[in-house]
Amino acid sequence: MNENLIQSQIPHVLNETDFSFLGEKYEGKVRDSYVQGDKRFLITTDRLSCFDVVVACVPFKGQVLNELAIHWFEQAKDIMPNHIIACPDPNVMVVRNCEILPVEVIVRGYITGSAWRDYEAGKAVSGIELPKGLRANQQLPEPILTPSTKAERGEHDEPISESEILSRGIVAEDLWNTVREKAFALFALGQEKALEQGLILVDTKYEFGLIDGELILADEIHTLDSSRYWVAESYQERFEAGESPVMLDKEPTRQWLLSQGYKGEGEIPTFTEDHLVSLSKHYMDSFEQIAGKSFTPFGGDVRSRIENNLREYLG
Ligand SMILES: Nc1ncnc2c1ncn2[C@@H]1O[C@H](COP(=O)(O)OP(=O)(O)OP(=O)(O)O)[C@@H](O)[C@H]1O
Ligand SMILES: [Mg+2]
Repeated sequence: MNENLIQSQIPHVLNETDFSFLGEKYEGKVRDSYVQGDKRFLITTDRLSCFDVVVACVPFKGQVLNELAIHWFEQAKDIMPNHIIACPDPNVMVVRNCEILPVEVIVRGYITGSAWRDYEAGKAVSGIELPKGLRANQQLPEPILTPSTKAERGEHDEPISESEILSRGIVAEDLWNTVREKAFALFALGQEKALEQGLILVDTKYEFGLIDGELILADEIHTLDSSRYWVAESYQERFEAGESPVMLDKEPTRQWLLSQGYKGEGEIPTFTEDHLVSLSKHYMDSFEQIAGKSFTPFGGDVRSRIENNLREYLG
Protein backbone atom coordinates (compact mmCIF):
# COMPACT_ATOMS: atom_id res chain seq x y z
CA MET A 1 0.00 0.00 0.00
CA ASN A 2 1.22 3.42 -1.01
CA GLU A 3 2.25 5.38 2.08
CA ASN A 4 1.72 8.73 0.35
CA LEU A 5 -1.90 7.81 -0.26
CA ILE A 6 -2.38 7.06 3.43
CA GLN A 7 -0.54 10.20 4.46
CA SER A 8 -2.72 12.34 2.21
CA GLN A 9 -5.83 10.78 3.76
CA ILE A 10 -4.97 11.93 7.30
CA PRO A 11 -6.75 15.31 6.93
CA HIS A 12 -9.84 13.49 5.58
CA VAL A 13 -10.25 10.89 8.33
CA LEU A 14 -13.87 10.23 9.29
CA ASN A 15 -13.79 11.40 12.91
CA GLU A 16 -17.43 12.43 13.21
CA THR A 17 -20.58 12.51 11.13
CA ASP A 18 -23.57 14.78 10.88
CA PHE A 19 -26.18 13.20 8.64
CA SER A 20 -29.40 14.31 10.31
CA PHE A 21 -31.34 13.49 7.11
CA LEU A 22 -30.78 9.82 8.03
CA GLY A 23 -32.74 9.95 11.28
CA GLU A 24 -32.01 10.17 14.96
CA LYS A 25 -28.30 9.98 15.78
CA TYR A 26 -26.68 7.72 18.37
CA GLU A 27 -22.96 8.05 18.82
CA GLY A 28 -20.96 4.98 19.86
CA LYS A 29 -17.25 5.00 20.45
CA VAL A 30 -16.47 3.83 16.93
CA ARG A 31 -19.73 3.87 15.01
CA ASP A 32 -22.41 6.46 14.50
CA SER A 33 -25.93 5.13 14.09
CA TYR A 34 -28.92 6.89 12.61
CA VAL A 35 -32.26 5.30 13.26
CA GLN A 36 -35.23 5.72 10.94
CA GLY A 37 -38.21 3.49 11.71
CA ASP A 38 -37.12 -0.14 11.60
CA LYS A 39 -33.84 0.71 9.82
CA ARG A 40 -30.51 1.67 11.34
CA PHE A 41 -27.70 3.27 9.35
CA LEU A 42 -24.50 2.01 10.93
CA ILE A 43 -21.57 4.19 9.90
CA THR A 44 -18.12 2.96 10.87
CA THR A 45 -15.87 5.94 11.47
CA ASP A 46 -12.06 5.96 11.59
CA ARG A 47 -12.08 6.38 15.38
CA LEU A 48 -9.74 4.10 17.30
CA SER A 49 -10.89 3.33 20.83
CA CYS A 50 -8.63 1.95 23.55
CA PHE A 51 -9.53 1.63 27.24
CA ASP A 52 -13.02 2.80 26.13
CA VAL A 53 -11.59 6.17 25.01
CA VAL A 54 -11.20 7.43 21.44
CA VAL A 55 -7.44 7.92 21.22
CA ALA A 56 -6.91 8.64 17.51
CA CYS A 57 -8.40 8.48 14.02
CA VAL A 58 -6.72 6.11 11.58
CA PRO A 59 -7.13 6.56 7.81
CA PHE A 60 -9.25 3.79 6.24
CA LYS A 61 -9.85 2.03 9.56
CA GLY A 62 -13.62 2.55 9.20
CA GLN A 63 -13.68 1.03 5.74
CA VAL A 64 -11.52 -1.90 6.86
CA LEU A 65 -13.76 -2.69 9.82
CA ASN A 66 -17.01 -2.31 7.93
CA GLU A 67 -15.83 -4.50 5.05
CA LEU A 68 -14.38 -7.08 7.44
CA ALA A 69 -17.70 -7.34 9.28
CA ILE A 70 -19.56 -7.71 5.97
CA HIS A 71 -17.12 -10.45 4.92
CA TRP A 72 -17.74 -12.42 8.11
CA PHE A 73 -21.51 -11.92 8.14
CA GLU A 74 -21.49 -13.49 4.69
CA GLN A 75 -19.35 -16.42 5.90
CA ALA A 76 -21.64 -16.98 8.87
CA LYS A 77 -25.00 -16.72 7.18
CA ASP A 78 -25.61 -20.48 7.21
CA ILE A 79 -25.32 -20.49 10.99
CA MET A 80 -27.87 -17.75 11.58
CA PRO A 81 -29.51 -14.69 10.02
CA ASN A 82 -27.80 -11.32 10.45
CA HIS A 83 -29.02 -7.74 10.55
CA ILE A 84 -27.73 -6.52 7.15
CA ILE A 85 -30.20 -5.01 4.69
CA ALA A 86 -27.78 -3.23 2.34
CA CYS A 87 -24.20 -2.00 2.03
CA PRO A 88 -24.49 1.24 0.05
CA ASP A 89 -21.03 2.64 0.89
CA PRO A 90 -17.65 1.20 1.98
CA ASN A 91 -18.16 2.65 5.49
CA VAL A 92 -21.88 1.95 5.85
CA MET A 93 -24.22 -0.90 6.62
CA VAL A 94 -27.96 -0.45 6.57
CA VAL A 95 -29.29 -2.88 9.17
CA ARG A 96 -32.51 -4.01 10.74
CA ASN A 97 -32.86 -2.12 13.99
CA CYS A 98 -33.13 -4.75 16.72
CA GLU A 99 -33.67 -4.92 20.39
CA ILE A 100 -30.10 -5.83 21.37
CA LEU A 101 -29.82 -8.38 24.19
CA PRO A 102 -28.21 -6.55 27.12
CA VAL A 103 -25.18 -8.88 27.30
CA GLU A 104 -22.01 -8.95 25.29
CA VAL A 105 -21.44 -12.58 24.38
CA ILE A 106 -17.70 -13.15 24.60
CA VAL A 107 -16.11 -16.44 23.53
CA ARG A 108 -12.50 -17.24 24.37
CA GLY A 109 -10.30 -20.00 23.03
CA TYR A 110 -7.18 -18.83 24.88
CA ILE A 111 -6.50 -17.21 28.23
CA THR A 112 -5.23 -13.68 27.68
CA GLY A 113 -6.18 -10.05 28.27
CA SER A 114 -8.65 -9.31 31.06
CA ALA A 115 -9.45 -13.03 31.54
CA TRP A 116 -5.76 -13.71 32.17
CA ARG A 117 -5.53 -10.80 34.62
CA ASP A 118 -8.55 -12.15 36.56
CA TYR A 119 -7.20 -15.70 36.52
CA GLU A 120 -3.75 -14.57 37.64
CA ALA A 121 -5.37 -12.67 40.52
CA GLY A 122 -7.08 -15.91 41.58
CA LYS A 123 -10.56 -14.78 40.48
CA ALA A 124 -13.04 -16.89 38.56
CA VAL A 125 -13.55 -15.70 34.98
CA SER A 126 -17.27 -14.82 34.58
CA GLY A 127 -18.04 -17.49 37.17
CA ILE A 128 -15.99 -20.20 35.42
CA GLU A 129 -13.41 -22.10 37.46
CA LEU A 130 -10.53 -22.77 35.08
CA PRO A 131 -7.93 -25.51 35.55
CA LYS A 132 -4.96 -24.59 37.72
CA GLY A 133 -1.51 -23.89 36.29
CA LEU A 134 -2.49 -22.19 33.02
CA ARG A 135 0.06 -19.79 31.58
CA ALA A 136 -0.57 -16.47 29.85
CA ASN A 137 -1.83 -16.94 26.27
CA GLN A 138 -2.37 -20.69 26.71
CA GLN A 139 -5.03 -22.44 24.68
CA LEU A 140 -7.98 -23.49 26.84
CA PRO A 141 -9.07 -27.15 26.85
CA GLU A 142 -12.19 -25.92 25.03
CA PRO A 143 -13.63 -22.47 24.25
CA ILE A 144 -15.47 -20.78 27.11
CA LEU A 145 -18.26 -18.21 27.26
CA THR A 146 -17.51 -15.18 29.44
CA PRO A 147 -20.39 -12.74 29.04
CA SER A 148 -20.39 -9.13 30.24
CA THR A 149 -23.17 -6.75 30.95
CA LYS A 150 -23.59 -4.12 28.26
CA ALA A 151 -22.68 -0.96 30.15
CA GLU A 152 -24.40 2.39 29.81
CA ARG A 153 -22.44 5.13 28.06
CA GLY A 154 -19.28 6.08 29.88
CA GLU A 155 -19.33 2.95 32.07
CA HIS A 156 -17.14 -0.10 31.62
CA ASP A 157 -18.69 -3.49 30.88
CA GLU A 158 -18.64 -5.90 33.82
CA PRO A 159 -18.23 -9.68 33.59
CA ILE A 160 -21.32 -11.64 34.57
CA SER A 161 -21.80 -15.39 34.97
CA GLU A 162 -24.29 -17.31 32.87
CA SER A 163 -26.13 -18.40 36.01
CA GLU A 164 -26.56 -14.77 37.04
CA ILE A 165 -27.89 -13.86 33.57
CA LEU A 166 -30.57 -16.51 34.12
CA SER A 167 -31.28 -15.92 37.81
CA ARG A 168 -31.67 -12.18 37.27
CA GLY A 169 -33.89 -12.83 34.26
CA ILE A 170 -31.66 -10.75 31.97
CA VAL A 171 -32.22 -13.28 29.19
CA ALA A 172 -34.79 -16.10 29.32
CA GLU A 173 -33.33 -19.60 29.59
CA ASP A 174 -34.54 -20.98 26.24
CA LEU A 175 -33.27 -17.94 24.40
CA TRP A 176 -29.97 -18.06 26.27
CA ASN A 177 -29.46 -21.69 25.29
CA THR A 178 -29.83 -20.74 21.64
CA VAL A 179 -27.50 -17.77 22.07
CA ARG A 180 -24.74 -19.90 23.60
CA GLU A 181 -25.11 -22.61 20.97
CA LYS A 182 -24.92 -20.02 18.15
CA ALA A 183 -21.98 -18.22 19.77
CA PHE A 184 -19.93 -21.43 19.94
CA ALA A 185 -20.88 -22.34 16.36
CA LEU A 186 -19.86 -18.89 15.09
CA PHE A 187 -16.60 -19.07 17.01
CA ALA A 188 -15.78 -22.54 15.64
CA LEU A 189 -16.40 -21.26 12.12
CA GLY A 190 -14.26 -18.19 12.79
CA GLN A 191 -11.40 -20.28 14.16
CA GLU A 192 -11.54 -22.68 11.23
CA LYS A 193 -11.57 -19.94 8.57
CA ALA A 194 -8.88 -17.93 10.38
CA LEU A 195 -6.61 -20.96 10.53
CA GLU A 196 -6.97 -21.44 6.77
CA GLN A 197 -5.40 -17.97 6.58
CA GLY A 198 -2.62 -18.82 9.04
CA LEU A 199 -4.32 -17.03 11.94
CA ILE A 200 -5.71 -17.91 15.32
CA LEU A 201 -9.04 -16.35 16.26
CA VAL A 202 -8.25 -16.00 19.97
CA ASP A 203 -11.41 -14.50 21.37
CA THR A 204 -14.31 -12.40 20.20
CA LYS A 205 -17.50 -10.62 21.19
CA TYR A 206 -20.93 -11.08 19.66
CA GLU A 207 -24.09 -9.03 20.05
CA PHE A 208 -27.45 -10.62 19.37
CA GLY A 209 -30.73 -8.93 18.72
CA LEU A 210 -34.40 -9.77 18.51
CA ILE A 211 -36.92 -8.76 15.88
CA ASP A 212 -40.44 -10.08 16.42
CA GLY A 213 -39.01 -12.86 18.55
CA GLU A 214 -36.47 -13.94 15.93
CA LEU A 215 -32.84 -14.12 17.07
CA ILE A 216 -30.48 -12.18 14.81
CA LEU A 217 -26.73 -11.67 14.74
CA ALA A 218 -26.21 -7.90 15.03
CA ASP A 219 -23.44 -5.37 15.52
CA GLU A 220 -20.10 -6.51 14.03
CA ILE A 221 -18.49 -9.93 13.77
CA HIS A 222 -14.85 -11.06 13.99
CA THR A 223 -13.49 -7.56 13.34
CA LEU A 224 -10.26 -6.16 14.73
CA ASP A 225 -12.30 -4.14 17.24
CA SER A 226 -14.29 -7.09 18.53
CA SER A 227 -11.71 -9.87 18.32
CA ARG A 228 -8.13 -10.85 18.90
CA TYR A 229 -6.15 -12.51 16.12
CA TRP A 230 -2.68 -14.03 16.48
CA VAL A 231 -0.31 -15.39 13.84
CA ALA A 232 -0.57 -19.19 14.03
CA GLU A 233 2.85 -20.20 12.73
CA SER A 234 4.94 -18.57 15.46
CA TYR A 235 2.42 -19.06 18.28
CA GLN A 236 3.70 -22.32 19.80
CA GLU A 237 7.37 -21.43 19.75
CA ARG A 238 6.77 -18.01 21.25
CA PHE A 239 4.38 -19.42 23.85
CA GLU A 240 6.97 -21.97 24.94
CA ALA A 241 9.62 -19.24 25.14
CA GLY A 242 7.28 -17.13 27.28
CA GLU A 243 6.99 -14.49 24.54
CA SER A 244 3.86 -12.68 23.43
CA PRO A 245 2.26 -13.94 20.23
CA VAL A 246 2.40 -11.84 17.06
CA MET A 247 -0.88 -9.92 17.21
CA LEU A 248 -3.09 -8.36 14.58
CA ASP A 249 -5.50 -6.75 17.02
CA LYS A 250 -5.37 -3.57 19.10
CA GLU A 251 -3.13 -4.95 21.85
CA PRO A 252 0.11 -3.36 20.50
CA THR A 253 -1.60 0.06 20.55
CA ARG A 254 -2.75 -0.54 24.13
CA GLN A 255 0.82 -1.51 25.05
CA TRP A 256 2.18 1.61 23.37
CA LEU A 257 -0.27 3.81 25.25
CA LEU A 258 0.67 2.12 28.53
CA SER A 259 4.36 2.71 27.73
CA GLN A 260 3.46 6.40 27.43
CA GLY A 261 1.91 6.25 30.90
CA TYR A 262 -1.67 6.29 29.56
CA LYS A 263 -4.31 3.95 31.02
CA GLY A 264 -7.48 5.62 29.82
CA GLU A 265 -7.39 8.76 31.95
CA GLY A 266 -5.69 12.13 31.58
CA GLU A 267 -4.10 13.55 28.46
CA ILE A 268 -4.05 11.21 25.45
CA PRO A 269 -0.54 10.74 24.01
CA THR A 270 -0.13 12.20 20.51
CA PHE A 271 0.11 9.79 17.59
CA THR A 272 2.64 11.07 15.04
CA GLU A 273 1.73 11.00 11.34
CA ASP A 274 4.19 8.14 10.82
CA HIS A 275 2.50 6.17 13.57
CA LEU A 276 -0.93 6.75 11.99
CA VAL A 277 0.39 5.68 8.59
CA SER A 278 1.83 2.48 10.02
CA LEU A 279 -1.41 1.74 11.89
CA SER A 280 -3.40 2.33 8.72
CA LYS A 281 -1.14 -0.03 6.78
CA HIS A 282 -1.50 -2.57 9.55
CA TYR A 283 -5.33 -2.43 9.33
CA MET A 284 -5.31 -2.84 5.57
CA ASP A 285 -2.76 -5.67 5.63
CA SER A 286 -4.73 -7.39 8.38
CA PHE A 287 -7.90 -7.20 6.32
CA GLU A 288 -6.16 -8.93 3.45
CA GLN A 289 -4.72 -11.62 5.65
CA ILE A 290 -7.95 -12.33 7.53
CA ALA A 291 -10.33 -12.17 4.57
CA GLY A 292 -7.88 -13.61 2.03
CA LYS A 293 -8.80 -10.98 -0.53
CA SER A 294 -7.38 -7.65 -1.57
CA PHE A 295 -8.44 -4.39 0.02
CA THR A 296 -9.13 -1.31 -2.10
CA PRO A 297 -9.04 1.88 -0.04
CA PHE A 298 -11.45 4.61 -1.09
CA GLY A 299 -9.77 7.88 -0.21
CA GLY A 300 -10.60 11.55 -0.59
CA ASP A 301 -13.64 13.24 0.86
CA VAL A 302 -15.24 10.29 2.64
CA ARG A 303 -17.99 12.39 4.20
CA SER A 304 -19.38 13.68 0.88
CA ARG A 305 -19.12 10.24 -0.66
CA ILE A 306 -21.15 8.68 2.18
CA GLU A 307 -23.75 11.41 1.97
CA ASN A 308 -24.10 10.96 -1.82
CA ASN A 309 -24.31 7.18 -1.57
CA LEU A 310 -26.93 7.33 1.14
CA ARG A 311 -29.05 9.96 -0.61
CA GLU A 312 -28.97 7.74 -3.66
CA TYR A 313 -29.86 4.67 -1.59
CA LEU A 314 -32.82 6.48 -0.05
CA GLY A 315 -33.90 7.54 -3.55
N1 LIG B 1 -28.94 -4.18 14.35
C1 LIG B 1 -28.78 -3.37 15.41
N2 LIG B 1 -29.85 -2.86 16.04
C2 LIG B 1 -29.70 -2.04 17.10
N3 LIG B 1 -28.52 -1.65 17.61
C3 LIG B 1 -27.40 -2.14 17.02
C4 LIG B 1 -27.47 -3.01 15.90
N4 LIG B 1 -26.21 -3.34 15.53
C5 LIG B 1 -25.39 -2.68 16.39
N5 LIG B 1 -26.09 -1.94 17.28
C6 LIG B 1 -25.56 -1.05 18.32
O1 LIG B 1 -24.89 0.02 17.65
C7 LIG B 1 -23.81 0.51 18.45
C8 LIG B 1 -22.54 0.49 17.62
O2 LIG B 1 -21.68 1.48 18.01
P1 LIG B 1 -20.29 1.23 18.73
O3 LIG B 1 -19.88 -0.21 18.65
O4 LIG B 1 -19.37 2.28 18.29
O5 LIG B 1 -20.76 1.49 20.21
P2 LIG B 1 -19.92 1.26 21.51
O6 LIG B 1 -19.27 2.53 21.90
O7 LIG B 1 -19.16 0.00 21.38
O8 LIG B 1 -21.06 1.11 22.49
P3 LIG B 1 -21.59 -0.21 23.06
O9 LIG B 1 -20.73 -0.43 24.28
O10 LIG B 1 -23.02 0.14 23.35
O11 LIG B 1 -21.39 -1.27 22.01
C9 LIG B 1 -23.71 -0.43 19.66
O12 LIG B 1 -24.36 0.17 20.75
C10 LIG B 1 -24.50 -1.67 19.20
O13 LIG B 1 -25.07 -2.37 20.27
MG1 LIG C 1 -19.42 -1.76 20.18
